[in-house]
Amino acid sequence: MSVIAAGSILLASSFCPAANAESPQNNAQEAQAQSPDERAAGLVAQMTLDEKIQLVHGNYPKVMENRPEDVPVSAGWVPGIERLGIPAQRATDASLGVAAGHRTIKPATALPSSMLLAATWNPKLAFDSGALIGKEARQQGFNILLAGGVNLVREPRGGRNFEYLGEDPLLAGTLVGYSVKGIQSNNIVSTMKHYPIHPQETGRFVLSVNMDEAALRESDLLAFQKGIEIGDPGSIMCSYNRINSHYGCENAIMFDILKKDWGYPGWVISDWGAVHSTVKAVHAGLDQEAGEELDTNVWYGQMLKDAVGTGAVSEKQIDGMVTRILRSLYATGVMDNPVGPPQPLDLEKGKQVAKAAALEGIVLLKNDDNLLPLAASAKKIAVIGPHADAGVLSGAGSSQVIPEGSVRLDAPSNAPDWLAGIYYHPSSPLEAIRKLAPSAEVSYANGNDIQAAAALAAQSDVVILFGGQWTTEAMDASITLDGEQDQLIDAVAAANPKTVVVLQTGGPVLMPWLDKAGAVVEAWYSGAGGGEAIADIIFGKANPSGRLPVTFPASQSQLPNPEIPGARLPLPSPVNHSEPEPFDMSYPEGADIGYRWYAKTDATPLFPFGFGLSYTSFEHAALAFDKTSLTARFTVTNTGGTAGRDTPQLYVKPPKGERRLVGWGITSLDPGESKTVMLAIDPRFIAHYADAAKGWVVAKGKYHLILAKNATDPGIQITVKLPKRTLPVAWHPDAAATSWFAQSE
Ligand code: BGC
Repeated sequence: MSVIAAGSILLASSFCPAANAESPQNNAQEAQAQSPDERAAGLVAQMTLDEKIQLVHGNYPKVMENRPEDVPVSAGWVPGIERLGIPAQRATDASLGVAAGHRTIKPATALPSSMLLAATWNPKLAFDSGALIGKEARQQGFNILLAGGVNLVREPRGGRNFEYLGEDPLLAGTLVGYSVKGIQSNNIVSTMKHYPIHPQETGRFVLSVNMDEAALRESDLLAFQKGIEIGDPGSIMCSYNRINSHYGCENAIMFDILKKDWGYPGWVISDWGAVHSTVKAVHAGLDQEAGEELDTNVWYGQMLKDAVGTGAVSEKQIDGMVTRILRSLYATGVMDNPVGPPQPLDLEKGKQVAKAAALEGIVLLKNDDNLLPLAASAKKIAVIGPHADAGVLSGAGSSQVIPEGSVRLDAPSNAPDWLAGIYYHPSSPLEAIRKLAPSAEVSYANGNDIQAAAALAAQSDVVILFGGQWTTEAMDASITLDGEQDQLIDAVAAANPKTVVVLQTGGPVLMPWLDKAGAVVEAWYSGAGGGEAIADIIFGKANPSGRLPVTFPASQSQLPNPEIPGARLPLPSPVNHSEPEPFDMSYPEGADIGYRWYAKTDATPLFPFGFGLSYTSFEHAALAFDKTSLTARFTVTNTGGTAGRDTPQLYVKPPKGERRLVGWGITSLDPGESKTVMLAIDPRFIAHYADAAKGWVVAKGKYHLILAKNATDPGIQITVKLPKRTLPVAWHPDAAATSWFAQSE
């Protein structure tokens, strides 16, 4: 039997999710013979200049003056044009659910972090999570979701890593694509962000990411490109930071890649407070200024009209901008399926979707002597760690969802004042553990008193110890757990080696106590069903199947930038009013991001990209490759005694350079069961980008295909020789001939 394979051309064509069954019918799209672009052009032809300008700049309702009563306090609003049937654009964040954050909309379902979603490696879960967020957004009266964070994790301390999908362009690009598809199945717009690169929070408004175009095209841009091809997002949000000296929202080179090279038809929306000019931005390709109250000027209001008056901007350019907005509103179904008044949400159903993702994205990192799953015979269980009685940790910033019943702690004093605080989502691991161990004595200590916690551990059969790293937008984190938790874990694990450490982190952390701990479970920020999912895994109700979407370094010195340069200034909002001096950043890894950097520098990480254990074992075999169709085939067998899910990973090491992920399978197998997986390789992921050829070049030579369990696993290897092949810059899988290597030399 063949199974679904991810991150490959096969997947892109074989996984075709149906439109959300409960979403409104997109009648008009079927009925209308005209394309979205034609329909948009028809409207633009009837608009006055003032009306056009009205559509290309928008408010931040939280701080706008004279906010109309029917406009919710949320991220964005652009008034509609009633006489033409153009609805208001009502925008909300983001990828982890309909965000409340510092705003006052009703609590929605808190999905797990995007980092956890990436650890599932499962496009179907990305689609399902997106479909839920989109549905709740629509039910709350929004037609634009600012969801689709796909910045690659270059800086493991990045404050927003939890909002992104890891370090690999194929994994992140594939998952963001399906997430956007899920969101847009509700006939609303999803926004991929932050284009083209946004690697850290420190200095985010001013820093210049200095990187050559080829390196960008092979890494962050490739993730966007893949995601856009799969998900077809209505809009793309440009980044705060500069790229090679030009701000993300006025960067002609980057916008030309998006719009001209890739033919992206949607609109480019600014980040909130990211616009710095009128004429330069318009000429570069920024279509809409959002959150204008956070900019130093309303660049796309009267100033834009004046620029049309002087001829610095032509009305034709404005028409182009408006057409892009309207065609996406048509293409996604917003125009034909207007959002209605807010409706109640089915939070119970939402929780099931959140828990399903959490169960697949929690990663088992260590399991000495099969300590997990916990034996039913454990009589005395100690649960230790801050707020493990109350809930699961969440990340902060504009994406934060705050369900009713969440527990709030004050954010650190150096955090930006607009942050809502540190929140634990109301899914208590302690309660869930007690439910699954009804005959055990389960004691709880918050761990504030390290000695008392160690004493409790010594008297217990087994310890479940929660460690947290709180991360937030606008501030980078440190690479360690918060406060004195490393000391706590050290002391507890020394007192009882049967200690299961459950980590709740935004991304990678160091683990100085690793040798002492019996088991380690990376639970990330696990959302509305997180406590239950953690308990299910600990007690073996579910078999862990998550795989790391990001490398965990063994030390800070292994990082491309061991120190984060630039002032570590948290910035208050409105954002432009207190910036540090602009500074330049280079990222020495360039295109060799994440695991490829470790391979290049010969550094052994603590846990490699792709790593994750199971309660069963899997064997991979019979790797074969068809050069004509660039398709690999192999078998996966469950060789253990428990049903489980494996994620066999296919890497390719080109003639020059480090190995990179080219596809993966997702195989659920009963004990003894085998399945065959087929993966078609997208050639851009084994190519390099050549400025001279203005396209992708697959070099002639020997390629190693590596079927592996993670990025450092030698796995099973075969070698193939490929001829040189150049692909045009606009090449993408749909455009591929059945046999793209047919004219091989
Ligand atoms: C963030 C965006 C977000 C926007 C609106 C900005 O601070 O960078 O990701 O969508 O705020 O809330």
